[in-house]
Amino acid sequence: MADIVRTGTLPVVVASDHAGIERKKTILAAVAADGFPVEDLGPETDDSVDYPDFAAAVGNRVADGSASFGVLICGTGIGMAIAANKIPGIRAAILYDETAARFARLHNNANVAVFGARTMSADQIVSRLRIFLNEPFEGGRHANRIEKIRQLENKAPCR
Ligand code: RB5
Repeated sequence: MADIVRTGTLPVVVASDHAGIERKKTILAAVAADGFPVEDLGPETDDSVDYPDFAAAVGNRVADGSASFGVLICGTGIGMAIAANKIPGIRAAILYDETAARFARLHNNANVAVFGARTMSADQIVSRLRIFLNEPFEGGRHANRIEKIRQLENKAPCR
């Protein structure tokens, strides 16, 4: 599939922290090979960094509409998911298996895929990401639920 280029589509933006940088390289290559435009939002080295900075870089690009999907990788995926989901409009899902990858799109309209470099193999990540990038949102009754999630973004916390 190396020669397919999906022209006219927004880029998939990818970032990691130091724990995820090797998996990030694999992901960048796989996404490009499948014909998606892709951007690497860092980091460039495996020096220790703070994952919220990179969750913000990816999340802001997806939320402002200049990227189609985001991909984040840290040690477990947990910190990246927590941080990215603080950004209004972001629905970040840890893709812990292929079923989760499929339903994150079909039912949750997730727009950021999150992986754990210390908990998932490179092959697992690539196969889950391929499912995620190609599965549509089902809409219908799920659209109403996504709207309710959006409304939670504007509510003061319950105490
Ligand atoms: C970094 O050591 C680690 O805390 C980070 O990659 C991630 O797993 C946090 O959730």
